[in-house]
Amino acid sequence: MALQLGDVAPDFEAETTAGHIRFHDWLGRSWGVLFSHPKNYTPVCTTELGYTAKLKPEFDTRNVKAIGLSVDKLEDHHGWSKDIEETQGTALNFPLIADSERKVASLYGMIHPNASNTLTVRSVFVIDPDKKVRLTLTYPASTGRNFDEILRVIDSLQLTDRQKLATPVNWKPGEDAIIVPALGDEEARKLFPQGWKTLKPYLRVVKPNP
Ligand code: BEZ
Repeated sequence: MALQLGDVAPDFEAETTAGHIRFHDWLGRSWGVLFSHPKNYTPVCTTELGYTAKLKPEFDTRNVKAIGLSVDKLEDHHGWSKDIEETQGTALNFPLIADSERKVASLYGMIHPNASNTLTVRSVFVIDPDKKVRLTLTYPASTGRNFDEILRVIDSLQLTDRQKLATPVNWKPGEDAIIVPALGDEEARKLFPQGWKTLKPYLRVVKPNP
């Protein structure tokens, strides 16, 4: 069965551009973004990996480690990374898993046979410090993902964990959030003594605590 939200992200050992890793040990107490791309030396993937490298300071601020994967060989990863630096202006600064035997891809359901029997689709798994899967995304090979959106989801998840808040449509950090329905008014008053706006009993809008 496909991995679902709340499942423990499967552990694995793999060869990467940063050496051999055991995934859970490598994550430590960080959040993780594990993402697959279909193939090295392809245009959309080149732009995605360059952009993800540019986002490293944003990932670091949020205690997030990024790690990419494709079913290519390690030597191909090293060759292609030079092209990424040359064309995207940023060198790879996170590991790429060389999964030529498709072990990790199979464990995470990254191969969708009706799309391609041999290549991974564009999967994303956001994993929290307890190793639980908190977001899954699947994009087709022809559509580059929006990594700013992945950061936005991580901001929302971390806010939920810290303050029992959910985030409304198109929310961005700094904007008002929503008190989760499971939190009664009495408990909410302790967490948000500054008060909130009740639009409906189930729709309570509040400025997040700093
Ligand atoms: C790409 O990254 O450009 C790509 C990879 C596989 C199929 C289509 C596009």
